[in-house]
Amino acid sequence: MIASIVQFSYLVATALFVFSLHWMNDPKTARKGVRAGVVAMTIAVLATWGQPIIVHHLWIVLAIAAGFLVGVPLSQVPITAVPQRTALSHAFGGLAAGLVGTAEYYLWLGEGPANLTKFRMVAIIAEILLGYLTFTGSLMAAGKLQEVKWIPQRPVTYPGQNFINLGLLLVAVGIGIALVIDPASDLAPKLFPVVIAIALAFGVLLIIPIGGADMPTVIAILNAYAGLSAVAMGFVLDNKLLITAGALDGSSGLILSIIMCKAMNRSFTNVLFGAFGQVQQIKAGGEEKVYKPETPEGAAQVLEQSNLVVIVPGYGLAVAQAQHKVRELYDQLMKRGITVKFAIHPVAGRMPGHMNVLLAEAEIPYADLVEMDEINTEMPQCDVALVIGANDVVNPAARYDKTSPIFGMPIIAADKARTVFAIKRSKNPGFAGIDNELYFADRTWMLFGDAKQVVGELVKQLSGSGH
Ligand code: TAP
Repeated sequence: MIASIVQFSYLVATALFVFSLHWMNDPKTARKGVRAGVVAMTIAVLATWGQPIIVHHLWIVLAIAAGFLVGVPLSQVPITAVPQRTALSHAFGGLAAGLVGTAEYYLWLGEGPANLTKFRMVAIIAEILLGYLTFTGSLMAAGKLQEVKWIPQRPVTYPGQNFINLGLLLVAVGIGIALVIDPASDLAPKLFPVVIAIALAFGVLLIIPIGGADMPTVIAILNAYAGLSAVAMGFVLDNKLLITAGALDGSSGLILSIIMCKAMNRSFTNVLFGAFGQVQQIKAGGEEKVYKPETPEGAAQVLEQSNLVVIVPGYGLAVAQAQHKVRELYDQLMKRGITVKFAIHPVAGRMPGHMNVLLAEAEIPYADLVEMDEINTEMPQCDVALVIGANDVVNPAARYDKTSPIFGMPIIAADKARTVFAIKRSKNPGFAGIDNELYFADRTWMLFGDAKQVVGELVKQLSGSGH
């Protein structure tokens, strides 16, 4: 009876996980998706806990309490820190899988080698390899994103690096195969920790050649690894829910990383082995480029005269937390009968859907958030493109400069607008570390300053002159 209830609960939880992912596809249903995920996880925990095989309840209570202690502060990080927060969750997931695999191996070994069937051993080896490498890899990724001092942001490369990494992985897999063939040999209990050590080292080695800037994509890949280690754990523990939830987690991580790679026009191997973000040689020659600064007052006057204003948000908008000020600007312009649209680039910011989440927070209507391909057809009719803290996603070099690291990345055609105002704090480049000719173009004027402050000035100008 209890077994049937547990299996039924697992079925309900799996269905809710599927719906949760589906609902998270769209900003309108994303909140419902998060709630469905929370309910599914609660059902999963309670159904597992309720099984008669579980006897050490105090340990579970302590683990839940520890989870709350860590989880509640983690849930309160600012939105710009969500990628590293997610990486930390994967680290914990990977560690849990690794520890369960280790415990099960020694437990079954102690109870008699007959328990260690080939199938179980394959699952255990897969679980510890993926689990431990996800643990250290995710910690490194989180550290790079958080700009922890002793973890270099730039890719660390040396000759033969890929060869060494691959060689190490092959050694671990080789030992793993030996353990599957004879899991209870005299040497086996000593070889097992060697696989763990290599997996832990491999996680670090895999991440150091990748620049901090590529970390969001890498985190999606680590998400896939964490999911796969959960699948392996499901086979080890004979738990169907872990298998389905792990598969959902693994495949969604993989799909997400593919979407991100496509939107940046980079291949998977280029992200993992391309050492993107290394300091570039500054091109010699070429005269000093000239920026044309503008005042908020002047910009407000041009905005007032427009029919169509397209706002292009980017990472800087998130850094400045300017979304509420942008909402005020939107209201001011709409009040004057000006059409305002937001151009959403798929990789603007530092995580998928970053701009959608930010603008939704300020309750900007979803209908006015327009995807890149659609808005680009309207850009020639646009009177003002207001670029707020965006850089790479509006860099025209992506269209023709074959030497540019962003060559081939689709961009928002802000340069096609009649006038461009660009808000940023300095002449520093964006994520890809390259100059942006849009800022020097004839029709572009710079509004230097923090996005929140500059948009605030624009609102002040517009609300003042509105009376
Ligand atoms: P970036 O190219 O990073 O440019 C952001 C700009 O915002 C910078 O030039 C910076 O200039 C400015 N900025 C920073 N703080 C600001 C503030 N407080 N006020 C005003 N401006 C500020 O951003 P983007 O155009 O959104 O492009 C995103 C990049 O990230 C792409 O290259 C993309 O490939 C990459 N990426 C994205 C993702 C996802 S999934 N979104 C994942 C991996 C990589 P100043 O320093 O001069 O202010």
